[in-house]
Amino acid sequence: MRSEIIKILLENKDEFVSGEYISEKLGITRSAVSKHIKNIKNQGYNIESITKKGHKIIGCPDLLSTAVIEHDLNTKFIGKEVIHFDTIGSTNDYAKKSATDFIDGTIVVSEEQTSGRGRRGKEWHSIKGDGIWVSIILKPDIYPHNAPFITQIAGASIVKALGNLKIDASIKWPNDIIVNNKKVSGILTELGAEIDKINYIVVGIGMNVKTIDFPDEIQSVATSILKEGYSVKRIDILKNILEEFEKLYLNYIQENDKSNCIMICKERSAILGKNIYIINGDKRRKVKCIDINEEGNLVIINENNDIEELISGEVSIRGEHNYV
Ligand code: BTN
Repeated sequence: MRSEIIKILLENKDEFVSGEYISEKLGITRSAVSKHIKNIKNQGYNIESITKKGHKIIGCPDLLSTAVIEHDLNTKFIGKEVIHFDTIGSTNDYAKKSATDFIDGTIVVSEEQTSGRGRRGKEWHSIKGDGIWVSIILKPDIYPHNAPFITQIAGASIVKALGNLKIDASIKWPNDIIVNNKKVSGILTELGAEIDKINYIVVGIGMNVKTIDFPDEIQSVATSILKEGYSVKRIDILKNILEEFEKLYLNYIQENDKSNCIMICKERSAILGKNIYIINGDKRRKVKCIDINEEGNLVIINENNDIEELISGEVSIRGEHNYV
């Protein structure tokens, strides 16, 4: 109900909305409206209330709440349903567990994760309010072997979104987003599927937005948007990502068109033309990246001077000298 009230106030942003209007619209009593407004103010929303005039929203706290995300979000189905938590173990875990109950495009977002997960079973630090910890639930009619491409769509949409906000970011194929040679964001795509049918895909995106101090073990490779000198609201980044993601995702799902996504991945690649290390389990080999092909696979020249194609999801990459 609180979310509904915030939505009404946001829809009428520059005006006072009477308690009577809200109570009629939502089918609740005037005193219930007053109680909810009090709670909403306690959450940090700045609302001016004047007797006989009503309530006017002046400002929202830096929360990724359902009402704030849904308000003015320019998408057809991504993020039209938002599940917001103050704290949760992992948004990916919750999304996977509940995927069958939610519609295509539902997002699960939390202010904090207590067991955030990265790739290869690594921990993902997800401090309260410091970043964007979100999972997108998708139910595409594609074959399971095509699912890795969704990670590239996510990567392309993140750099596009950051670009829209004047943040210069690149992609370390296939799922790390880099600002000034350090990782600012990562993608964890997980699949619920049968042999030839996808039940759901969960695309988990973690982005460090305001983090300043990182644990010792990742200090040298991790950064945040703020740490790199950009002061941008989490909500603006998240909405941009959802909008850019939907465009590229629909291109792919409806038209089987990967070209825009691949163009962005190539233009914004942090590794094309460079020597890198490919890490696969205990094995580490030095190769040169020469292309991302029309399938989204990384084309390399391997240690025997042969051309080889790598499918995302198979490998980890490190730069020749540094992280990238
Ligand atoms: C990586 O770079 O290793 C991937 C990191 C993915 C982190 C996100 S945060 C939201 C979602 N929930 C999780 O537990 N992980 C992903």
